[in-house]
Amino acid sequence: MSYTVPHGMRSAKITPRVHMMNTGNTRQTMKFFVDTADVNDIRELAATGLLDGVTTNPSLIAKSGRDFIEVISEICEIVPGPVSAEVAATEADAMITEGRKLAAIAENVAVKLPLTMDGLKACRAISDDGTSVNVTLCFSPAQALLAAKAGADYISPFVGRLDDIGQNGMHLIDDIRTIYDNYPDLGGTQILVASIRSPAHVVEAAKLGADVCTIPPSVIKQLVQHPLTDKGLEGFLKDWAKTGQSI
Ligand code: G3P
Repeated sequence: MSYTVPHGMRSAKITPRVHMMNTGNTRQTMKFFVDTADVNDIRELAATGLLDGVTTNPSLIAKSGRDFIEVISEICEIVPGPVSAEVAATEADAMITEGRKLAAIAENVAVKLPLTMDGLKACRAISDDGTSVNVTLCFSPAQALLAAKAGADYISPFVGRLDDIGQNGMHLIDDIRTIYDNYPDLGGTQILVASIRSPAHVVEAAKLGADVCTIPPSVIKQLVQHPLTDKGLEGFLKDWAKTGQSI
């Protein structure tokens, strides 16, 4: 399929859109992270084999009531995938110092930095160390472009919080996907959809080709549920009982 996009219309919607047109993008699957610092929830989900990583933030750490370093260290032992741990400093040098401390906790720590100019400066330094960086609190395509240029492994657009103020969070995912796919040399920053509130967010993110969804435990559980599955299983079990057989 081929089409031309007139200059000045690059942000216009074209249907059907073809993602990964010129990128050689290597996305193989939608990764599932859990957005929590509750180790009981993390253990339960890790046991399903569905969990690829964990994200935390200062609010989730506060909710856990636990020591930050201790809880991140424990999560890193439970889940081999990336575990995002967020700095608390707001000035670049202090962010770099904190980020390096967090990176020393375990190999699989991804340092989470806010999308500010200082955060981007720290992102470059910490990425250059060889540490994975997740740039968080992204609310615009321009911010996502900057994070990729700063070397972030992950960009975290907050879809739910955009929906909360009457905007459409999924439009942001669509825009970021387009921008990243336009420029393979941006370095493969992964779109980590955050602030997810419902299974519909996850499905939309997958349709748009997002790389990762970080999902609250309650929404992960909702993803599996369907009343027709329950009803169907009940019927099968009833009929099976009538056969008097066992496997
Ligand atoms: O961890 C960042 C993000 O997922 C927070 O979500 O629900 O507080 O907007 P929420």
